[in-house]
Amino acid sequence: MSELRSQGWYGGNDRNSYIHRAWMRRGLPDDAFDGTKPHIAIANTASDLTPCNMHLNEVSEYVQKGIWEAGGIPLNLPVVSPGETQVKPTAMLWRNMAAMAIEEMLRANPIDGVVLLGGCDKTIPALLMAAASVDIPAIVVPGGPMLTGTFKGQPLGCGTDVWRLSEEVRSGELSNQEFIKSQSSMIRSKGHCNTMGTASTMAVIAETLGMTIPGFAGTPAADARLLSLSHETGRQIVEMIAADRRPSQIMIRESFINAITAVAAVGGSSNSVVHLLAIAGRLGIDLTLEDFDRTGRDVPLLANLAPSGEFLMEDLFRAGGLLALLAQIPERFSSLPITVTGRPLTDYLPGNEVFDKKVIMSPADPLMQNAGIAVLRGNLAPNGAIIKPSAATPELLTHRGPALVFESIEDLHARIDDPDLEVTQDTVLILRGCGPKGYPGMPEVGNMPLPKKILEQGVRDMVRISDGRMSGTAYGTIVLHVSPEAAAGGPLALVQTGDIIVLDVPNRSLNIEISEAELSARKPSAVSAAAYATPVRGWAKIYVDHVQGADTGADLDFLIGASGDKVSRESH
Ligand code: FES
Repeated sequence: MSELRSQGWYGGNDRNSYIHRAWMRRGLPDDAFDGTKPHIAIANTASDLTPCNMHLNEVSEYVQKGIWEAGGIPLNLPVVSPGETQVKPTAMLWRNMAAMAIEEMLRANPIDGVVLLGGCDKTIPALLMAAASVDIPAIVVPGGPMLTGTFKGQPLGCGTDVWRLSEEVRSGELSNQEFIKSQSSMIRSKGHCNTMGTASTMAVIAETLGMTIPGFAGTPAADARLLSLSHETGRQIVEMIAADRRPSQIMIRESFINAITAVAAVGGSSNSVVHLLAIAGRLGIDLTLEDFDRTGRDVPLLANLAPSGEFLMEDLFRAGGLLALLAQIPERFSSLPITVTGRPLTDYLPGNEVFDKKVIMSPADPLMQNAGIAVLRGNLAPNGAIIKPSAATPELLTHRGPALVFESIEDLHARIDDPDLEVTQDTVLILRGCGPKGYPGMPEVGNMPLPKKILEQGVRDMVRISDGRMSGTAYGTIVLHVSPEAAAGGPLALVQTGDIIVLDVPNRSLNIEISEAELSARKPSAVSAAAYATPVRGWAKIYVDHVQGADTGADLDFLIGASGDKVSRESH
């Protein structure tokens, strides 16, 4: 084993190494600092304000046991934790801030490796972006989904059923009293959302990128096996440090292609696109929107999980888990990339049995053919837009209809239930000002509610287009991440109510039916421009000044790439 990085603090007999050792003794024996024992941070996103990650302090105890047992020294490192349901204006605004803060703390401290404890939507992306930019040995513990709650005897998918039940209230099928009553059943146990939303998708991504112990993703938070796998992860990071196995060796281009394939096979969240692009950007990997379309295009959807299907994450685990699902299509995964164990993911696929074929379907009879995220281009989205066909209404994937434009989410909320709103089920709802710069932070508002008068007609889906994102738990024929966004001068800012919009997902196009000359002669409306955020200080100012488009991952321009693990100067 080469000299441990932490010896840059603890090695030697001078005044500075004395200071580093003395303050960290905390009852540790002399040999804790002699270069024989790796010091390992546990980057922990546990927070009472990130309820999906609240249990990670307990998980950390099991990681620590594994680290001690294998001869390492665990160090708890609480890190920034954006809780999806709580922080305003959107957790995505804080993803890059969390990634930057975590990166700097990993680099600045005397650690040889890191265990990344995440769960809720933005926490695993931020942890992986940070680890990629520091590039010290790193391994992910995915916090696991919650158990299935029920309401009136029916399972509740968190997120997905909030959207469904709230639309039932607006259409008059459910009383508001009943809706509120379901609230106490929605979150049954510790863990993250139990649908194939963004958190579940990011766990799948962490595993298929090679960054977890294979077979970990999808283990329910309340299952004792989450703790034993956490214990095993503690041992594994010690072995990784001895082998000097770093994120840049694990997350290579083929790992990203494996992850994109897996996301298509499980019907994963559209948010996976911005997160995978951002992680790849930290590693200098040339990943583009076209990689998503090309890779996912003919992948069958094998997971019958909400929001695309019927079941929930606990059912996937019962049915054999992620490895059993991936083992249905082993030929689609590259054996080139290694995982945290040093062996490829493909080594772990054989022998995984499917125990419930209604949950994990066969490639011969999948829930849907060609399930990957589709990338659209055209005069409405020159840099691209995305749609998740598995969550859409098949008949709407080819559609032509008049635009109804909303300048902001506030404008939409103010007008959507107006009985005089001029709208039919063929109307295309457009929401702008919701991109990374415009909001700021690119919130999950793309799954805009349908007009009440349309819901009352029994219609449950319409074509919706925005430069924002949508929750991974949401569904509908929804075009997202339109780039460039309206606030960055994209043509979305020029659409007027009544313009004809043509969506053609099979041919991957999204256009406004007006001439180039007319489009370029138009100016954004004054109301629209006024709706974009113009922060004057703090993180929001840095963010708006430096954030990149959704088509490249919405990272900050100066955070793309890596700075490695070297520190510049001594501290005393
Ligand atoms: Fe945390 Fe859904 S709100 S995972």
